[in-house]
Amino acid sequence: MTLRIGLVAASDRASSGQYEDRGTPALREYLRARITTPHEFVERLIPDDFSTITSTLIDLADNELCTLVFTTGGTGPSPRDVTPEATESVVQRVLPGFGEVMRRVSYQIVPTAILSRQIAGLRGTCLIVNLPGKPSAIAECLDAVMAAIPDCVATCGGPTIDMVPEMRAFNPHSS
Ligand code: MTE
Repeated sequence: MTLRIGLVAASDRASSGQYEDRGTPALREYLRARITTPHEFVERLIPDDFSTITSTLIDLADNELCTLVFTTGGTGPSPRDVTPEATESVVQRVLPGFGEVMRRVSYQIVPTAILSRQIAGLRGTCLIVNLPGKPSAIAECLDAVMAAIPDCVATCGGPTIDMVPEMRAFNPHSS
């Protein structure tokens, strides 16, 4: 089975063509180099608009049957940043550890990481993870949480996700 992975870039300026979306290519490249299970991406470039973000996340989880959805951008404190609120409104359960760890690791790198309100949560068996918009921040955040993602998805009844050995995917049932 081919794993489906949703990539959502939330940005007023990138979606209106004022600048290039750099988050999606960074995400695609990062995941392609680390996930070994055959996978395909379902990509969306949308404005920082609450109802557009919620309907996009619902579509990717319920209709496009994505196992994972990564959002990039819109996690900061500006009034137009609403990705975390939109995510919280479509998940049944928030997984607070993701946001906590991503901010803790990022704060060691840049003090302004404290400004990211990123969260993660489950809509059924679909895991949605918020990431900042900056490409370097995407890698820094994902490096901190990727090892837990295959077990999270498997525990919820989702498909197996294999990754390259360097990611040290943790399986609590194998030890
Ligand atoms: N996290 C990491 N790892 N590296 C970064 O450079 N930038 C921060 C933060 N998180 C950053 C980071 C900054 S400056 C902001 S404003 C917030 O993410 C929100 O970014 P976003 O609005 O693009 O989501």
